[in-house]
Amino acid sequence: MDFTAQKIGRVFFDYSDYISFIIQGTTMEQYAIKGGNPLVGEVEIGGAKNAALAILAAAIMTDETVVIENVPDVRDTNVLMQAMESIGVIIQRIDRHTVKINASQINDLIIEDDYIKKIRASYYLLGALLGKYRKAEVALPGGCNIGLRPIDQHIKGFRALGADVRIEHGLIITETKQLRGNHIYMDVVSVGATMNVMMAAVMADGQTVIENAAKEPHVVDLANFLNSMGANIKGAGTDVVKIRGVAKLHGTEYGIIPDQIEAGTFMFAAAVTKGDVTVKNVIPKHLESISAKLLEIGCEVEESDDAVRVVASKPLGHTHVKTLPYPGFPTDMQPQITVTLGLSAGTSIVTESIFENRFKYVDELTRMGANIKVEGNTAIIDGVGKYTGASITAPDLRAGAALVIAGLSADGITTIDDIKYIERGYEDFHLKLQGLGAQIDRIATDREMQKFKLKVG
Ligand code: EPZ
Repeated sequence: MDFTAQKIGRVFFDYSDYISFIIQGTTMEQYAIKGGNPLVGEVEIGGAKNAALAILAAAIMTDETVVIENVPDVRDTNVLMQAMESIGVIIQRIDRHTVKINASQINDLIIEDDYIKKIRASYYLLGALLGKYRKAEVALPGGCNIGLRPIDQHIKGFRALGADVRIEHGLIITETKQLRGNHIYMDVVSVGATMNVMMAAVMADGQTVIENAAKEPHVVDLANFLNSMGANIKGAGTDVVKIRGVAKLHGTEYGIIPDQIEAGTFMFAAAVTKGDVTVKNVIPKHLESISAKLLEIGCEVEESDDAVRVVASKPLGHTHVKTLPYPGFPTDMQPQITVTLGLSAGTSIVTESIFENRFKYVDELTRMGANIKVEGNTAIIDGVGKYTGASITAPDLRAGAALVIAGLSADGITTIDDIKYIERGYEDFHLKLQGLGAQIDRIATDREMQKFKLKVG
């Protein structure tokens, strides 16, 4: 393991020690950024992380082999696949973004706390295992960096299908002899609950109707994936999803949709740095709320079949925005637009209506010179002329990415700690930014920092 020991400054006992180090992430790594370069060029967007998480879990619902393409190679998908392997699922990576999954030899229906701690979305295995085996035990997810994350709607849905659900010793235990279709009204619009209940219902007896369902592109992608395995789901993408239970599912080959949030992040990075960026391999319809806000603040946005170009040649203006379920402005883009409005002329207001604690990064942005006041779930932003580089910390995935784009526009050098959060959901983030002309490196030691400083002058 000489190469890794030298590169990361750590000795590994063996290959699995090295892999678990990579998967768990480390606090040592930072991004070092020298701001000031407009981002210019083209960037290829990967598969949608949040669709992949549900689809990978759903792939265990047949004993036949499933091939999934366009899986992003990020920490969250990799940890979920580890959790699946821990119960006997056989997973082969055909290439970096294609996996072959066979779940005919599952030997355990318990997903341990370790996986849930690393990645909340392991809870999709609850719906998938319950739907296939009528039983599952998954550690109860706790709160997280963006606020309380209850799962009462998931549980309500499972119970409506006839499953017994109880919480014991930190596990959610759900089981039943028979799942029966039912009419389920969701009290809140929840992406996770819609997808989990969809999986549980797909092989239930009779018809299930989910009302007030989430309409996000990844909900539609999961439904399309399950239908390609023989499920009968109609209405995904509207707020009423109808699922007629089928006896069994079969193998399939399926490609995951492009990541709406990765694309949106690069679109705002173009705006913040006064750049000209074409995001390629996207579905422009999924980006409409993002494009609309960029147009409002003075960017040019050109759409083609599978690409969107953002040009920011004029000074940016202010706007107001409230996060909402799809097709509203996504909560996962809230930090990125706030960072952008922090540099736009005038006063903007951003209201977060999905998660109650998603403005924690504002303190970090203030250290870079932003003038933002947070009152409850609202940020009042007085645009400043520039940000200045500082040493900051990524509090969560999307906020971390937003702070990177703040650093790209700032005077001087910014270092960002805890990039393990960013790497949960962005594949090769710094490499893609480098491809657009950004001065950013992933560094692990003081020596690498010195080298970076020499390089950027
Ligand atoms: C998904 O989380 C995404 N995660 C999140 O992305 C995203 O921010 C969120 O949807 C909203 O779009 C994955 O897909 C893995 P919800 P999820 O259930 O499913 C409340 C990222 O950065 N609620 O739609 O957990 C909840 O508290 C991540 O990629 C209940 O009250 O979100 C929230 O206020 C972060 N009871 C609202 O609903 C429930 O049972 C929406 O949450 C479930 C949710």
